[in-house]
Formats: sequence, C-alpha cells, structure tokens
Amino acid sequence: MHGFKTSAYKRGVLVIATLFLSGIFVLFSLLAVVYAASNDNATEMDRTLRLRLAEAGVTGLEPPPVMSAARVELGRMLFFDPVLSGNRDVSCATCHSPLFATADGLSLSIGVGGRGEGSERTLGVGRRRAPRNAPDVFNRGFTQWRSMFWDSRVAGSPETGFETPAGGALPEGLESLLAAQALFPPSSRDEMRGGIGDRDVLGQENELALYSDYDFAGIWQGLMQRLKAIPEYQELFASAYPGLEPGEIGIAQLANAIAAFQIDAWTFLDSPFDRYLAGDDAVLSAGAKRGTLLFYGEAGCAVCHAGNLLTDQQFHNLAAPPLGPGKAGGLLDYGRGMLTMRQEERFAFRTPPLRNVALTGPWLHNGAYTSLEGVIRQHLNPEAALRNYDTAQLEPDLRPTVRLEDEMIAVLLETLDPLMQKPLELSEQEIADLLSFLNALSSESAKDLSADIPKRVPSGLALGN
Ligand code: HEC
Ligand code: HEC
Repeated sequence: MHGFKTSAYKRGVLVIATLFLSGIFVLFSLLAVVYAASNDNATEMDRTLRLRLAEAGVTGLEPPPVMSAARVELGRMLFFDPVLSGNRDVSCATCHSPLFATADGLSLSIGVGGRGEGSERTLGVGRRRAPRNAPDVFNRGFTQWRSMFWDSRVAGSPETGFETPAGGALPEGLESLLAAQALFPPSSRDEMRGGIGDRDVLGQENELALYSDYDFAGIWQGLMQRLKAIPEYQELFASAYPGLEPGEIGIAQLANAIAAFQIDAWTFLDSPFDRYLAGDDAVLSAGAKRGTLLFYGEAGCAVCHAGNLLTDQQFHNLAAPPLGPGKAGGLLDYGRGMLTMRQEERFAFRTPPLRNVALTGPWLHNGAYTSLEGVIRQHLNPEAALRNYDTAQLEPDLRPTVRLEDEMIAVLLETLDPLMQKPLELSEQEIADLLSFLNALSSESAKDLSADIPKRVPSGLALGN
C-alpha cells in the first residue's frame, strides 16, 4: 500500500514536472521565434537605414589632428580671459560657456556691459543685444568646414586663402578656418570691444574702442600689446610657439591657439548617431531609427542638413520669426542677403550643423524657438508657424521686438526656400520620432563640460561677472 501510493505519487510528480518543463520549453520556443522575428525586423530596418546613410554620403568623420598641449593651454587661457575685450568684462566663454553647451542659453547674446552668466545674463544700461544667437562651437575644427557664422562672412581655408570682413588686413599664418573666425569677436563693438568713451572694469580708458571699425590691424595690434604686457602670457606664448622669436608672435598665433583649444576640448564623435555610423546597431532606439529614416527620407531634412557635418553650408530662408535689434543699423536681419545685397537671399542663413543640437537651445539664427518641436513645426509649415508663434517663449525684453504683422509675414515668405514651399504633413508620432533622432545626436561627453573651466586666468581678472 505504502509502495503503491508512493509510486503513484511519484508518477504524478513526474507528469506534472514533464508538463511544467514542456510548458517552459514551448514558452521559450515562442519567445525565441518572437525575438528572431523582431530581430529580423531590426536588421531589415538597419539595412535600409545604412543604405540611406551611405547614399546621403554620411560616412563618419575622422578626428582632427592632435594639437600640442602647450598650444591648447594657451588657447584655453585666452578663451576664458576677459582681457581680450575692450572693457575687460567679456571673454569668448561669456557667450560660449561650458555650462551652456558652448553657447549661452540666450535667444540673442549679451556682450559688452552685461552682467551674470548664461541664461541669467542681463543687459547693461544703454547697451543692446547682439543681433544673433550664439551658436555652439562643437566640432568646428573639421577641415570639411568651408565657412563660419550664420551668414558665412568668414570663409575659405589655409590652402585656398580666406575671405573675411578684414580683407587684406588678415594676418599671415592662420592654420584653420576656425582660427580665422577667432579674429572677429574681439573687433566687434557689441560683442567684446565696447564703445568710444567706455571705461573698463578697473576704471581705465578702453584703448581698444578708439580704433575705427575698419582698422582691424590696429585693433589686433592693440590687443597683442595688452597681452604681451602680462608676463604669464609671454611665457605661455613662448612655450606654445618654441620656434618663434617674441617679435614674430602676433594675432595669428593668438587665433591659432584659440582654435586649438576649441578643437581639443570640444570635438565629440561619440553620440549614439556616431556610434551607429561606426557599426553599432543596438545603440539607437526603434524611435530614433524611425526618425533617422524620416530625416534621410520622406521628411527631406538631409537635403540641407547634408553630409558628415549635417549641413550643406548653403543658405536657406525658413521664414524664422524676426526679432531683436536687426543687423547693421537696419531693423531687420537679412542674413546672407545683407552680405551679397541679393534680394533673393534675404532672410537666408547658413544651415546649422546638428550634432548636440538638443543641448544648445534656444534655436535658429535669432533664438526664436525654445523647443525643438517648435523648430520642427517651423520647418514643416513656416506660414502656419509664424501665425501661431508664441512670443511668451522669449526673454521678456525681446517679446516686444517680434515683427509679425501681415506685411512682414508676406515679405518673409517672398524669399522662402523652394524646398519649404509645400507644407509637409507629419503625424505626431513622426514628429516624436524626428525628436528622438535629434536627441540621438547628443554626445554623453558633451553634457558636462565644467572641467574645461580654468580656476584663474593670466590677467588676474574675474571669470564671469
Ligand atoms: C557677446 C557674445 C559673444 C562673444 C563674446 C563671442 N561670441 Fe562667438 N558668436 C557669438 C554669436 C552671436 C555668433 C554668431 C554671429 C553671426 O553668425 O553673425 C558667434 C559665432 C561664433 C562662431 C561661429 C560658429 C559657426 O558655426 O559659424 C565661433 C567659432 C565663435 N563664435 C567663437 C568665438 C570665439 C573664439 C570668441 C572669442 C574670441 C567668441 N566667439 C566670442 C557670440 C559671441
Ligand atoms: C531647405 C533647407 C532645410 C531643410 C529641408 C531642413 N532644414 Fe533645418 N534648418 C535649415 C536652416 C537654414 C536652419 C537655420 C534657419 C534660421 O536660423 O533662420 C535650420 C535649422 C534647424 C534646426 C535648429 C538648429 C540650431 O542650431 O538652431 C534644427 C533642429 C533643424 N533645422 C532640424 C531640421 C529637421 C528635423 C528637418 C526635417 C524636418 C530640417 N531641419 C529640414 C535648413 C533646412
């Protein structure tokens, strides 16, 4: 009896165990099938995506050459030192701050006379804002760059020569386009140089403001004189340029060092998008992959945000809502059209690159948008976006400067880019997917740049004010 009971019991246990095990087996087989199917889908999607990227010429970028440590360190000091500005109150980092993803978090920058840092910065009495949004300076050292600024007013390369507002006054020996760019903020009155009659933060006369706006050589010489009077800079320049005599060191060496610092500190190619380009299929979410397909497909974004830098470096009018003081004495900023005097290029700006774009708002040449969704909607249907534009997203002093009367809208739309003429209808899901793609362009290493900020600078001036 006892034995029978036991064996029946054992059989029961055996049956249950078998059922249980086969149940688990079936479950696993099912999971395996589902997994294989979804994996197959992913591979199919990746194949399409990789094909599109290849067709679009997006092949990944080679990092720029490594710069000497002494040159980079000199550049870092110069980048953060307010001694480069007329009133000794503004450095490059005021508007390209490591704490604001190498920009300033403002729609329009605040230069000379401002107080505070980043998005907290406020305008000084009697001063005006810069007419444009400060772009980030990530990844600007690649030799594929052909121009700098929203209107490409600095263009060229060491090989072909440069075209800049300084014409023949440009010094010899500039090693890169980024170096040529660095010559211009110190000469701009609103950004760094200040006005005639200004006193600097120490109460001394601002001697750099006395040069005429066209005397670039004078301004640069004045600036070098200031720096050469500081023993620590003499040493830093000497170790950055061991082959040059002190008399041979000039503004080109300053510019080359500032460029070297930006390239060394802020070249990042480790965004999920870049890692995907390098072959890692798993690094992008399904949503980001759908967004990438749209970007390189039906949404047509890559026509302008083209190639490895995600810009064609050409000019397009997206009819961004006009705001701010305008450029060159006019109330409007005609962008490229102001430079070329060509009516059809009015309101056209150089297509911005998009790596790290999610970190660098507000967006567009005048910071009109504080959300990337707003930026996308402006692209999809410029006229509707203008009519629905919400000025509340701007800093209070800029709200009354927005120009959106009917006549203004008509003028803006007159030269609207041909690619923007037909509104593009995208579903909410598709817009969310495009946003996932834009977010996948952010480098993890670009998110905290605080280690780039020096503790002090050779002039002894305060960092930030
Ligand atoms: C007062 C704010 C301010 C200061 C100070 C400033 N910048 Fe800028 N920077 C801007 C603005 C605004 C633009 C865009 C102007 C335009 O395109 O017309 C810009 C553009 C640039 C660009 C071009 C990026 C591109 O993609 O075209 C670089 C590079 C740059 N600045 C580096 C520097 C350096 C180096 C310094 C110091 C020597 C400096 N900036 C000082 C506000 C500033
Ligand atoms: C016709 C060319 C063109 C097309 C197509 C285009 N863009 Fe742009 N994009 C630009 C230009 C030009 C700007 C800057 C305009 C300005 O500031 O006035 C810009 C700005 C942006 C910005 C803001 C960048 C910044 O730093 O301020 C984002 C984000 C962007 N585009 C994403 C997209 C997406 C997503 C698509 C596809 C739906 C797209 N673009 C299609 C030309 C284009």
